[in-house]
Amino acid sequence: MSWFVSKIYDRFMASAEREVLGEWRRELLARAEGRVLEVGAGTGLNLEYYSNSVTDVTAVEPDPHMRAQLAHRIEQGPNPGVRLVDARAEQLPFSDDSFDAVVATLVLCSVDDVAAALQEFRRVLKPGGRFLFVEHVAARDNPGRLAWQRRIEPVWKRVADNCHLTRRPADAMREAGFELVDLTRESMGKGLPIVRPTIRGEARLSK
Ligand SMILES: C[S@@+](CC[C@H](N)C(=O)[O-])C[C@H]1O[C@@H](n2cnc3c(N)ncnc32)[C@H](O)[C@@H]1O
Repeated sequence: MSWFVSKIYDRFMASAEREVLGEWRRELLARAEGRVLEVGAGTGLNLEYYSNSVTDVTAVEPDPHMRAQLAHRIEQGPNPGVRLVDARAEQLPFSDDSFDAVVATLVLCSVDDVAAALQEFRRVLKPGGRFLFVEHVAARDNPGRLAWQRRIEPVWKRVADNCHLTRRPADAMREAGFELVDLTRESMGKGLPIVRPTIRGEARLSK
């Protein structure tokens, strides 16, 4: 992310947050308990939604500009105990079986290697641990929209920091050995049509 994008990220997201995302985050993150690893934490929009059942949050963010915004939010907010780590989803600097939950919201669209990231989530999750996610995805049952996503994706990836429009992360989760115990598909309200199709929910490890 450029310095500029990191600065405007929260304002850019504000209407989607008001419209749907804030509520989705609240519902999803109410399920997080114990030791939580949040990957691609961005500016920290999820932090306010963690409950007292969460004992500690480790927030991973590889982009220095987003990390600076996140550090600022951690300092200002009610989450002084959040640990901030510079790392990538594909290579997490944590021991096996060390977290009760992994959280990634709007992140699998941007990582370089979805399969490698999911293998890392598996590795660091304790047996029975939860992977909580929100992602925008390739359109299903709407060939016209999917065609537009395919057309625009090459340019979009460049302007939006490697964000892909046609990924199918639910399939990737199953291929990685996760069981999708809860999966909601819903349109992201008034978002740009190319990022409206979304999934959110919970995947568990069948290891
Ligand atoms: C669209 S933002 C989402 C931020 C935040 N999770 C949210 O819900 O608002 C995508 C984030 O993923 C991060 N990211 C991109 N590639 C990553 C990778 N390989 N590993 C971890 N985070 C990554 C970006 O730096 C950015 O902060």
